Amino acid sequence: MTGISSTPQWKALEADAAKLTRVPMRDLFEGDAGRFGRYSIEAAGLFLDYSKNKLTDEVVDHLLALAVAADVEGRRAAMFAGEAINATEDRAVLHVALRAAATDAYSTAGEDVSAAVRAELKKMKGFCGRIHQGVFKGYSGKALDTVVNIGIGGSDLGPQMAVAALQPFWLGGRRTFFVSNVDGQHLAAVLDEVDPERTLFIIASKTFTTQETMTNAKSARAWFLENGGGEGDIAKHFVALSTNTEAVAAFGIDKENMFQFWNWVGGRYSLWSAIGLSIALQVGFHNFEKLLAGARRMDEHFKTAPLAQNMPVMLALICVWNRNFIGASAHAILPYDQHLARLPAYLQQADMESNGKRVGADGSVVAHATGPVLFGEPGTNGQHAFYQLLHQGTDIVSADFIAPAISQRALGDHHEKLLSNFLAQTEALMRGKTEAEVRDELSRESKTNAEINALAPHKVFPGDRPTNSILMERLEPETLGGLIALYEHKIFVEGVVWGINSFDQWGVELGKVLAREILPEIAAAGEEKPQAKAHDASTNGLINKINAIRRKGG
Ligand code: F6P
Repeated sequence: MTGISSTPQWKALEADAAKLTRVPMRDLFEGDAGRFGRYSIEAAGLFLDYSKNKLTDEVVDHLLALAVAADVEGRRAAMFAGEAINATEDRAVLHVALRAAATDAYSTAGEDVSAAVRAELKKMKGFCGRIHQGVFKGYSGKALDTVVNIGIGGSDLGPQMAVAALQPFWLGGRRTFFVSNVDGQHLAAVLDEVDPERTLFIIASKTFTTQETMTNAKSARAWFLENGGGEGDIAKHFVALSTNTEAVAAFGIDKENMFQFWNWVGGRYSLWSAIGLSIALQVGFHNFEKLLAGARRMDEHFKTAPLAQNMPVMLALICVWNRNFIGASAHAILPYDQHLARLPAYLQQADMESNGKRVGADGSVVAHATGPVLFGEPGTNGQHAFYQLLHQGTDIVSADFIAPAISQRALGDHHEKLLSNFLAQTEALMRGKTEAEVRDELSRESKTNAEINALAPHKVFPGDRPTNSILMERLEPETLGGLIALYEHKIFVEGVVWGINSFDQWGVELGKVLAREILPEIAAAGEEKPQAKAHDASTNGLINKINAIRRKGG
C-alpha cells in the first residue's frame, strides 16, 4: 500500500481538508448538539472523546473508506492469525497471545503458542509466590525484597512505566529499580541504594546481546561478587528474561532461572511476557493478571467492533488525518495523572520505533508523511513548559489528554483542580481566542487604543489545535492494560494505512555498528591514543578532542 496517497480515498480527504481550512473548529461545535455523542467511543473501561478534532461526518466517512482501501480488517485478521506480518524479519506479531483467555488458541506457522505462554505464566506465578513468601531467599538467608531490572528499550520502558503507574498497588516493603543507560552513573546510583543480600537482579533482554544491558549486567554481577556474594550464589540473585537460551547460559544464569518469551513478541510489545516479571513482583501476580485482562478486553473490542465504533481504529484514523491532512508533525501525550509520568517515554518507543519509517512494504519510498514526533509530560507540569507552543506556535501539534475521573490518592481538592486544567486546556486549544474577543477584553480593562493595538496580536489564540480526551474511572491494572493495548493497536492501524512495517527497527542498527567501531578509539583515562583518521573531519576532531581531555584528566 505504498501508493495509498494516490487513491481516491486519500484525494477525497485532501479535498475535505482544503474545504475546512477556513472553518474554525468552534463553528463545528455551534449548532451541533450531537457532536460529542457522535464522536466518542466507550470500550474496555476507557472513554474516548475525539470531537475536538477538525472533523465532519464527511471526513469520518472518508477516513473509514481509507481504512477499507488499506485493508485494515484484512491485516488485523492476519495479525491475529499469526501470519508473518513482520515481513522484513519474517516473524508473526502475536503479543495478543500473551494476554489471551485460557480458552483461546493462538498459533503461528502451524504451531500452537498458547500452551507455551500459559506454561511461562505459571512459572512466573510460582516464582513470584516464592519470592513474596520469602521461600526463594538470598545467599545469607534473607528474603529478596528489592528488584533491580537491567534492560533497555522495550525491556525497560514498559515495565518501568507500568510499575510507576501502579504505585498504589505496590506490595508493602518491596522496591523496584530500573537500570538502562550504559552510562555507569545509572547503575552506580542504584547500587548505592540496594543491599546485595536482599536484591534480585533481573537481566531483561530479548536478544541478550544488547551492549547496554550486557555491560550493566556484568558490572552488577561483579558488584555482587565484591559485596559478599559468591559464584555459587549467582543463581539466588540473578534471573534472566530472554528469547536467547544459549546467551543466557553463557552469561552464567541457570536455565531454571530463565523466563522465556519468543521472537513473535516485539521488544516494545513485550511487557505482557516474561519481561513483565518486575511488574508482577512489585504489584503481585494477581494484579499482573488484571493488567493482562484489561489488554484482552481491548483486544476483543479491536477484533470485533465495526471500524466506525472501534477505538484503536478511530484513534489511528484521526492521527492520520491530523498528520497527513491537517499538517501536524508532532503529537503530545499528556497524562493528567502523575503516576503516568513515564507513559510519554514508553509511547515514544512504541510509536516512533514502530512508525518512524520511510519505506513501504514493497521497498519503495512512501509518498506521504508517516509517524509524527511524540513527546509529552504529565499535566499540569507541561502547561508551564511547552504548552505555549501548542497554543500559539507556528506548528500544529496534536495531543492526547488522558485522565482518571477519580484519583487513587485523593487529597483535598487536588484532583478537581487537575481535572479542571485538563478540560480547560482542551477547550482552549480547540476554541482559541479571536482578535475581536481580545480587543473586547482589553477595552474592558480600560486600555488605550494604542495599547490595544500593540498587545492584541500577542494575545490572540488561533485555536483549531486538535486533541483527543481519554478518560477512565480510575488508573488501575485493568484500565492501564486497556490503555496500553489501545495504543498498540492504534500504532498498528496507522502502519497499515501508511503501508509500512510497524514491527521492525532497522533504523537503530547503523549507530550501534559505528559505536562498536569507535569504542577502541576512545582513550582510557590517562591513555595516549593515535590521532583518529578513519572518520569524517567532525567525528575525527571530536575523538581527538575527547582523547586529549581524557589523557590529561586521567
Ligand atoms: O535498539 C533497539 C532495540 O532493539 C529495541 O527494539 C529493543 O526494545 C531494545 O533494543 C532492547 O533490546 P533487547 O531486549 O534485545 O535487549
